[in-house]
Amino acid sequence: SARKFFVGGNWKCNGSKQSVQELCEAFNAGKNIDFNRVEVVVAPPSVYAMLTRSILRPDFGVALQNCWVGKPGAFTGEVAVEMIRDIGLSHVILGHSERRHLPEIRESDDVIGRKTKYAIDKGVHVILCIGELLEEREAGRTREVNERQLSAVRAHLSADDWAKVVIAYEPVWAIGTGKVATAAQAQEAHSEIRSWIRRQVSEACASQMRILYGGSVTPENCLELAAQPDVDGFLVGGASLKPTFLDIVRAYQ
Ligand code: G3H
Repeated sequence: SARKFFVGGNWKCNGSKQSVQELCEAFNAGKNIDFNRVEVVVAPPSVYAMLTRSILRPDFGVALQNCWVGKPGAFTGEVAVEMIRDIGLSHVILGHSERRHLPEIRESDDVIGRKTKYAIDKGVHVILCIGELLEEREAGRTREVNERQLSAVRAHLSADDWAKVVIAYEPVWAIGTGKVATAAQAQEAHSEIRSWIRRQVSEACASQMRILYGGSVTPENCLELAAQPDVDGFLVGGASLKPTFLDIVRAYQ
């Protein structure tokens, strides 16, 4: 397709100064990555973001895994989009299922929409995560859940804003479970998401939107998924903490 493949590595709440150093050095040594064909972004824990940005090869982008919803100020414990820009990061992950569903966090659809708008307005690209729970899939509600989560973002964005968004479809039952979606399940959901964008935003936006798959992606299962026409890359959790993440980066081949 005309869409440039995109691979994100979400390190979640893992690592140390030493492991960050070692992983960046392993990635820096990676050869045979055609950056005309793939965009690569890794998301360390925020305290390691400056360290990561200073060590990691400049042809890899760096993201945060979350941000505050508005301007900097008296918001103890939060990190503002302005700070993400200030330290030279390109992206922020928003709406990750762990932030949506963990009882300690429970971020709402609307807050995710407002965060997305604020980040885009400040020039930070957004990796927007959506996806259904197992019980929602089993009830036949996958499409409805994805569309509800997308609609809450659409309420805050202009049509042009969507050009700064990459969507990550991450079925919650596939995250960290080793139960990867089948290629057919991923393709079906991605095609429904693209069709929603075509109807609710625009044809041009739909044809350009990168829709990533996330959930137990590995070097072993990535090629079959990448061969699906509406799978434009991956958001990788556990497998992004190993040097063999680069084999997933090269799945555009
Ligand atoms: O953001 C990444 C996803 O949550 C996938 O995580 O690859 O460990 O299943 P996982």
